[in-house]
Amino acid sequence: MKPGVSYLRTVEDVLSDEPRVLSVPLTIFIDKHGRPFRICRLGTRDFERLVEMYVSFEPKSQAGGLPPTDEPRIRAWLEKLIDQGLNLIAKDKSQIVAHAVLSSIDEREAEVAVFVHQGFQGLGLGHKLVTCLVTIANLKDFEKIWGLVESENSAIIHINHSLGFSTYRISQGSVEMELKLHERK
Ligand SMILES: CC(C)(COP(=O)(O)OP(=O)(O)OC[C@H]1O[C@@H](n2cnc3c(N)ncnc32)[C@H](O)[C@@H]1OP(=O)(O)O)[C@@H](O)C(=O)NCCC(=O)NCCS
Repeated sequence: MKPGVSYLRTVEDVLSDEPRVLSVPLTIFIDKHGRPFRICRLGTRDFERLVEMYVSFEPKSQAGGLPPTDEPRIRAWLEKLIDQGLNLIAKDKSQIVAHAVLSSIDEREAEVAVFVHQGFQGLGLGHKLVTCLVTIANLKDFEKIWGLVESENSAIIHINHSLGFSTYRISQGSVEMELKLHERK
């Protein structure tokens, strides 16, 4: 497989909550070293491995106080994200190495967040996951998506700008970025 090549599934598969469908990758991302990562929706069987990713995630509390610092808080935070949002993971074999979530605020807008484990940053996974969330947000008919990022976080600001997000507010070390998708009919 060549770097950058993606294998996308159908719209119904992408949005399906059926456990059998969730376990099948939405796409495979090939990094610059030719290593394949499976990008999947988060299934219930992935929960413990996602907790493992965040327990070893460093530094904690770096992105607006996230991820949380200890395991009970990590579990509570993830349960809330699973309740409120559509969660994507990137897998290297069975290990979860990155997580991104589109949390619905209401039927028109959703918040985007992405976390790539420190051992796997700089490979393009953050960019790939946010790209997938933008596609999914379009499929789900959101009017806009946004994210709150630290003003020193050049990597996520760079990723978001490259995908068309604009900066709409800067306050107290944070940058709010939004991407307008389309007006509802
Ligand atoms: C921010 C984060 C998601 C980025 O993920 P990543 O997989 O390392 O990023 P990628 O490899 O996809 O891409 C990074 C892009 O930013 C660029 N970049 C990296 N560091 C940069 C910097 N200091 N200044 C400018 N650009 C930078 C890279 O060159 C790359 O750009 P390119 O695609 O044009 O080559 C990851 O570092 C992370 O999880 N950080 C901790 C959690 C966090 O801050 N999340 C964001 C807020 S929710």
